[in-house]
Amino acid sequence: MADLKTQYMGLCLKNPVIAASSRLTGSMDSLLRCEEAGAGAVVLKSLFEEQILFDSEKMVEGTDMGVYTDAFDFLSGVSKNYYLDQYLSLLEEAKKRLSIPVIASINCIGAGVWTEYAEKMEALGADALELNMFILPSDPEQRSEDIEKKYMSTVKEIRSVLTIPMAMKISSHFTGLAGMVEALGEAGLNAVVMFNRFFRPDIDIESLKFTSGNIFSDPSEVVIPLQWIALLYGQTRVDLAASTGVHDYTGVVKNILAGANAVEICSTLFKNGIEHLGKLITGMNQWMDRHSFEKVTDFLGLLSKANLEHPEIWERSQYIKALTGIS
Ligand SMILES: Cc1cc2nc3c(=O)[nH]c(=O)nc-3n(C[C@H](O)[C@H](O)[C@H](O)COP(=O)(O)O)c2cc1C
Repeated sequence: MADLKTQYMGLCLKNPVIAASSRLTGSMDSLLRCEEAGAGAVVLKSLFEEQILFDSEKMVEGTDMGVYTDAFDFLSGVSKNYYLDQYLSLLEEAKKRLSIPVIASINCIGAGVWTEYAEKMEALGADALELNMFILPSDPEQRSEDIEKKYMSTVKEIRSVLTIPMAMKISSHFTGLAGMVEALGEAGLNAVVMFNRFFRPDIDIESLKFTSGNIFSDPSEVVIPLQWIALLYGQTRVDLAASTGVHDYTGVVKNILAGANAVEICSTLFKNGIEHLGKLITGMNQWMDRHSFEKVTDFLGLLSKANLEHPEIWERSQYIKALTGIS
């Protein structure tokens, strides 16, 4: 049996498979099931910034439902104190009853009053905080550097009040993604989770109405985090975690080969049940045995750009070759 232990943003995980933030990590019952299935850590369902700032009626009016998959889990007519109290007591109970690391999560669009609640999360024993931050760059008046500054100042502000490790689950919508990841590390992040997956509304051309896109990912999407993790491994100060499209053990193994310290899974747990998590861990273990890897660091980043003789495989040049036949 291989040793699956891994280090992720200073946390020692018994294996790299993390139950990602969703309503499946929003109740004690399902958190216990995640631990029982073998999760290396859990990221609690996000507390939305809007839950702190507004009452739910205002929030329903203001939320951009077209953007956040997470909003499906979120909208219901209760007050902000309800959300806060619920969240903090879930965290407290999770810390008492689980032995794996519990990562609190805030879905935010900037720093603000919620930093106070982040401090409360740390005080209640959260092992780390994951920020799920996304500013939709849809305003033609807004320049990319202004948007990026907002991310930086948010990280700096929260870092100034927290001592626990901090990650941010980002989108891939940055012009200078590699530089952005490094700058987020400079600002105080310990890890970056690549990537959040956004809900994309669709159009039914017969009814002339909007329809919802698929809120769950497809296994083919695993190549999205894979490429960026492979490009960034060894090039940045932050740890990298994969999110999007990991549905079975092959997705876990691929992302670790690319350079991910940890892999977050969500859709597959909705589709196959929380217990499916155990299959990913068993599959990874058997794969390591088959390849005589005794520990995760034996193959962490092995196929990253940094460790390849022909690193262009991860770059655009490979695509041009495939299209043109020029080698
Ligand atoms: C129903 C649902 C609810 C989600 N809720 C949250 C959330 O509260 N906070 C968050 O950071 N991500 C949330 N996510 C995003 C997931 O954590 C994950 O990053 C995304 O689904 C991509 O991973 P996957 O391909 O394994 O599903 C949610 C996803 C789904 C499908």
